[in-house]
Amino acid sequence: MGVESILAGSLASATNGLSWFFPILAAVLVYFQYEALNDEAPLIDMPSEVLLPTYHFIVVGGGSAGAVVANRLSEIEDWNVLLLEAGGDETEISDVPLLAAYLQLSQLDWQYKTEPQGDACLAMENNRCNWPRGKVMGGSSVLNYMLYIRGNMRDYDIWEQQGCTGWGSPGVLYYFKKSEDNKNPYLIRTPYHASDGYLTVQEAPWHTPLATAFVQAGQEMGYENRDINGKYQTGFMIAQGTIRRGSRCSSAKAFLRPVRMRKNLHVAMHAQVTKVLVHPESKRTYGVEFMRNGKMFRIRASKEVILSAGAINSPQILMLSGIGPKEHLQELGIPVLQDSRVGYNLQDHVGVGGLAFLINQKISIVQNRLQNIQTAMQYAILGDGPLTILGGVEGVAFVNTKYMNASLDFPDIELHFVSGSTNSDSGVQIRKVHGLTKKFYDAVFGPINDKDTWSVIPMLLRPKSRGMIKLRSTNPFDHPLIYPNYFKEPEDMATLIEGVKISVALSRTNAFKRFGSELNPRQFPGCEHIPMFTDQYWECMIRYYSVTIYHPVGTCKMGPYTDPEAVVDPQLRVYGVAGLRVIDASIMPNLVSGNTNAPVIMIGEKGADMIKEYWLKQKMFNK
Ligand SMILES: Cc1cc2nc3c(=O)[nH]c(=O)nc-3n(C[C@H](O)[C@H](O)[C@H](O)COP(=O)(O)OP(=O)(O)OC[C@H]3O[C@@H](n4cnc5c(N)ncnc54)[C@H](O)[C@@H]3O)c2cc1C
Ligand SMILES: *[C@@H]1O[C@H](CO)[C@@H](O)[C@H](O)[C@H]1NC(C)=O
Repeated sequence: MGVESILAGSLASATNGLSWFFPILAAVLVYFQYEALNDEAPLIDMPSEVLLPTYHFIVVGGGSAGAVVANRLSEIEDWNVLLLEAGGDETEISDVPLLAAYLQLSQLDWQYKTEPQGDACLAMENNRCNWPRGKVMGGSSVLNYMLYIRGNMRDYDIWEQQGCTGWGSPGVLYYFKKSEDNKNPYLIRTPYHASDGYLTVQEAPWHTPLATAFVQAGQEMGYENRDINGKYQTGFMIAQGTIRRGSRCSSAKAFLRPVRMRKNLHVAMHAQVTKVLVHPESKRTYGVEFMRNGKMFRIRASKEVILSAGAINSPQILMLSGIGPKEHLQELGIPVLQDSRVGYNLQDHVGVGGLAFLINQKISIVQNRLQNIQTAMQYAILGDGPLTILGGVEGVAFVNTKYMNASLDFPDIELHFVSGSTNSDSGVQIRKVHGLTKKFYDAVFGPINDKDTWSVIPMLLRPKSRGMIKLRSTNPFDHPLIYPNYFKEPEDMATLIEGVKISVALSRTNAFKRFGSELNPRQFPGCEHIPMFTDQYWECMIRYYSVTIYHPVGTCKMGPYTDPEAVVDPQLRVYGVAGLRVIDASIMPNLVSGNTNAPVIMIGEKGADMIKEYWLKQKMFNK
């Protein structure tokens, strides 16, 4: 892809602040990386004219899970597979780890917003939080901050106890390792990691001095510096990321590019599925309907259709196809094929933004200090330098509040350590992606624009509150309605307040005092009447600057047939309809205690194996 096409995209429009830097960076990248590695050459986008009328399998969505499913199914040479993706391909700019936030609100993002709930997201325009989702090959793994985290093994044991047979910790560990290409020689010698999978995992090659301070601060607080994807989860570590030679390793780059020459895998981009086709009598799925370049197409699937469209879009497609809550579908005049609780059980990881600590040394990530030829060259030629930092996140920690028994190793708060803050780009992009009003930004961060800071985003690991996805209309191109219901259960707020206190305590360790760390003294508008450093103030802060950590899941819940809430069975087959599975973040019965990309890739691996096992067994019987 050339410089023009990178810039012609709407990326340019969302990136005023970097408008002179992007052309230089893009030019340097095109010049030095013109000879793309064979395994990473762009995918072949099949023209509509050459698509077949029928495939064995149709996979809807080429995101974290869909890319894995399409790869693994097309390993069977007798099967042909069609992968339909609503977005286009990744770009050189979307590969640059530090620039992750610049992809939001661009053409690569579905640009969802939550419905106002009145007591959260109060600092945002119209009280709506932004919910970015990748609309691109690789899905949200192209927009994400690349943190590689598996969650707590206890999460999966709980799934199994709830009747999801096979999903306990031994079952899932096998699939985490199956994907993994870990570059850390120490880790791959442990029983928890592997190095022969498709998905490359490594630390950013470059760090600020604050990264070490973070791990030291944790040790001062009694936490170990350890691999939080290993035997124990509680502890602090320098972030491990899905990056390869310093660049983003999306699920498409990991799982699809290396197999792009397979004759039995067809990929069609800019193809948005509007409906799954199901025979009303037999309730058997026979294909999908999709829109591409303004034209409607219908293609058949002789074995199965797999929805991997993510936790917002998979329930949307199911409901548009007549699979969902009866009352809601009838309200919209959609004939009901199967009454089920699609769209319910929405869970997301919520945290608080704006915990910015000022420091007295020029060592943090301040954007206007980083945009220069040197950083661009360092990145393009060596795959090194500040541009390799995972969206600004250098460290992660799993900690216990007073509500959790620490000896259980089942932490209830995750800390994301950022060596910068909302102020580090003088309000150009972070303010916009978080949806903050200008007034709020100016009051809190205006006075510290471009000053050196670090921040912590504490995140509630196992929210009790449940939200919902509903259709806005029967038009498949309308965004669905998103009701996150943050903090509807008071325990969620109580726990997150403790997470804020742990973050403040972190700033008071010697490791951070060394840099003179002080919380930004500007009080949040709307919270000025409450004294700072009180629970009431922290609650107010959380209600104003509520931030999603971008992990919506659960809207097509997996569960045994005895579970009235379950939409799919433990083999991920949609209840009541034959030939249809959901394989993505929406099947999680409970949100895992960690970032969701690696768990969703694991779900893709395990789901694909279930499909293979089922159909290959059928074949044996029929012979
Ligand atoms: C900004 C951001 C930061 C994040 N940071 C991290 C992180 O650091 N670490 C981490 O572990 N997780 C992170 N996540 C979460 C993680 O990336 C997601 O949980 C994961 O990618 C979800 O995978 P999925 O397969 O369920 O959906 P997605 O990856 O979103 O894939 C869905 C795909 O389906 C396509 N699609 C949707 N509807 C249709 C349709 N009708 N027709 C055709 N195609 C369709 C979409 O365009 C998309 O490509 C982040 C997410 C975001 C958005
Ligand atoms: C915490 O868990 C440990 C290990 O299961 C148990 O022995 C201990 O009694 C628990 N403590 C409390 C206060 O519940």
